[in-house]
Parts: sequence; C-alpha cells; structure tokens
Amino acid sequence: MGKNLSIATISLLLVLASTNAQQVFDVKSYGAQPNADITQALTKAWKAACAVAGSKVVISAGVYKLGLVTLLGPCKGAIEFNLQGTLEAPLDVASFNGKDAWVFFQYIDGLTVSGGGVFDGKGQQAWQRNTCNKDKNCNILPFNIRFDYVTNSIVQGITSKDSKFFHINLFECKKLQLQHVTITTPGDSPNTDGIHIGHSSQINITNANIGTGDDCISIGDGSQDITVNQVTCGPGHGISIGSLGRYQNEQPVSGIRVIGATLSNTDNGVRIKTWPSSTSGVASDIHFENVIMNNVANPIIIDQNYCPNNQCSNQSPSKVKINNVSFKKISGTSSTKEAVNLICSKSVPCQQVVLSDIDLAYKGGGGSATSTCANVQPAVSGKQNPPACTNKL
Ligand SMILES: *[C@@H]1O[C@H](CO)[C@@H](O)[C@H](O)[C@H]1NC(C)=O
Ligand SMILES: *[C@@H]1O[C@H](CO)[C@@H](O)[C@H](O)[C@H]1NC(C)=O
Repeated sequence: MGKNLSIATISLLLVLASTNAQQVFDVKSYGAQPNADITQALTKAWKAACAVAGSKVVISAGVYKLGLVTLLGPCKGAIEFNLQGTLEAPLDVASFNGKDAWVFFQYIDGLTVSGGGVFDGKGQQAWQRNTCNKDKNCNILPFNIRFDYVTNSIVQGITSKDSKFFHINLFECKKLQLQHVTITTPGDSPNTDGIHIGHSSQINITNANIGTGDDCISIGDGSQDITVNQVTCGPGHGISIGSLGRYQNEQPVSGIRVIGATLSNTDNGVRIKTWPSSTSGVASDIHFENVIMNNVANPIIIDQNYCPNNQCSNQSPSKVKINNVSFKKISGTSSTKEAVNLICSKSVPCQQVVLSDIDLAYKGGGGSATSTCANVQPAVSGKQNPPACTNKL
C-alpha cells in the first residue's frame, strides 16, 4: 500500500514536472539555416510556440538574415525567445514598407527574451539618409526591437547593434525588466536612442551598457515607476527625461529613479528636457543618485527651452510643470564649464528641486565650473562644487 502510494506520488510529480517543462520550438525544425533568411521559419516557429503554454523559441548560434517580423501574442502561456545567434536586418530601408520596427513583440504576457544573441540592425546605409536633423516631419526609420503591450516580462543578456533608428522601444508595457542589455552604435549615428520608454509603468533597467549616437535612455510621456540601476552610458547624449511637451495630450511622467550610473564622454549627463511653446504637462518625483560623470558636456541639466535644430517657435515658455526632482551624489568631470544648468520655465517654475553632494570639476581653461539657475530655487545640502546657482537668469 505504502509502495503504491509512493508510485502514485512519483507519477504525480512527473506529471507536474512535465507541465512545467518548456516545449522547445527550434527554428531549424522550421527550415532555418545559418546565413539564409529565416523570416518564414521564425514566423512559423513563433506561431506554433505561442499556441502552447510554456514554450521556447530557439535560434541557435550562427548568423541569420531576418526581415521584418511581428511576434504577436497573446500566447497560451509564458513564452521564451531564446536567441543565441546573430540576426541581421535588411540593409535597405525600402524593404520595411514604412513600418517602424524590425523585430516587433506585441501583446505578450510572460515573455522572456534571453540567449545572449545579437540583433544587428545594419544601420550604416540608413544613417546616411537620415534627414531628421533638418526636417521635423522626417520618415521614422525602423527601430531594432519594439515591445508594445508586453507585460510581466524579462529581457536579459541580449545585444542590440547598429539600429537604423532607436534600438529598443517600450510602449504600453507593464512590469518589464531589462537586465544586462548591451547596446552598441557609433557616437555619430543619428537618432539611435538606446532604450526609449513611453506609456509604461513598473519598468526596471539594470546593468545595461549603452553606447550610441543619441540618448542612452530616454523616458517619454506616460512613464511611471521606472527604475534605472547600474547603467553605463557613452558615447551618446546621456540619460533623459523627455523630451516632453511637443505633442498634444501627453500623459504625466512620475516616479523615476536613476541610481548608480556612469556616463563617459556623453553630450549630457542626467537631463530633463521640455519644449517651449508647449502643451501643458507634468514631470514629477524624479531622482538621480550616485552618478559618476567622466568628461561629460552638461552633467546636470534641466532644459525647458529644448528646441533642437530650431524646430520650434520660441515664443512662449514651456508649460510642463517640473516638481520634486533631486540630484544626489553626482560627481566626476565636466568637459564644459556649464556643469549644472537648471533652466526652468518662466510660466511654471520648477518646484522642490534638490541638489545634494555635487562634485563636478572642470579641467579646461577659462575659469571654473558654473551652475546656472532660472526660475528655480533649489534646496542645497552637502558639498556643492560648483556652488549652486552661481549664475541666476
Ligand atoms: C524593480 O526594482 C524595484 C526596486 O529595486 C523593485 O522593488 C521592484 O520589484 C522591481 N520591479 C520589477 C518589475 O522588477
Ligand atoms: C517626491 O518623490 C518621491 C519619490 O517618488 C516620493 O516618495 C515623495 O513622496 C515625493 N514628495 C512629494 C512631496 O511629493
């Protein structure tokens, strides 16, 4: 009787174990071969995997060509996208038919992206044709990886390389963690933001290493409860909240924590940017702490006159209200004299701005580092190098 019971128990455990095991869908079984185009094979493998609860799509080591794909949910259960190899995007922008994503994950709950592989966007030709610095209605080029409506998910250990436009974009995502993500692009590649977050909440980015031609991480409207932990940036334009106030009906940004970042040779350090002549908006509860700057051009900056390439009418001040922002333990070197710039809006001055333990040295000629303030009276504590608000506008 005891023996039968234990056999029954073991069989039950085996059944439980097998329901937990992931069913593997290797793209090879769907016709994928190294150096060939695997768009069809991946699409079929994803469809099959998505129809099964607890599945795993595997792309093993090797280099593969991949056209535009939409990896669509909802799936039957948790699903893993395990990329061990390198995926290469088409060189030609025309083959994307105006679509703005190369690899597009959409409507998935419980996604894991893993495997240590590379998404190579092959952006070199596209960058040469980018006109966004001259034309504000320029065509949006394909992002390397888009996550839209992806929830309770983890993206870990992958690399995004040479994207034609932004590398990784999150839209309407919730409870998504990005861990040990590597992003590499030359510093002169246009609009290649590393990770952009919009309309998303409960997002964590930890241990990312991002070198790019635009913002390292940018956090757009509708972002709430975002934690960025231990990130290294450079080259690029630094970590940015915004830009905000450019479009109608933007949602508030709040609850942003950037803790333990190192920025090297970037055009900005930690920044909040809003457009003048803007629609109203809110950016609040934003905290930067333990950030090291190595030769950074504007290490600490609030810029409510953000207007790249004179694309806006600079008539009226920004209407985006900035509130409860702290810069704590920010140290290192500034490559320009303007180490601290808090340029707030005349119509909605910044409130509850804190500068605490700031130590930024300027090593070039022509004087020491400056701190400029407009329409803000920061609360200061601890070390202040440069002294807070040496210039008041
Ligand atoms: C994100 O990080 C915070 C603080 O480290 C933690 O409390 C939270 O559970 C994390 N959230 C997710 C979705 O990983
Ligand atoms: C400021 O932001 C922090 C962190 O998000 C929050 O805990 C705190 O309540 C905010 N303070 C005020 C006065 O709103």
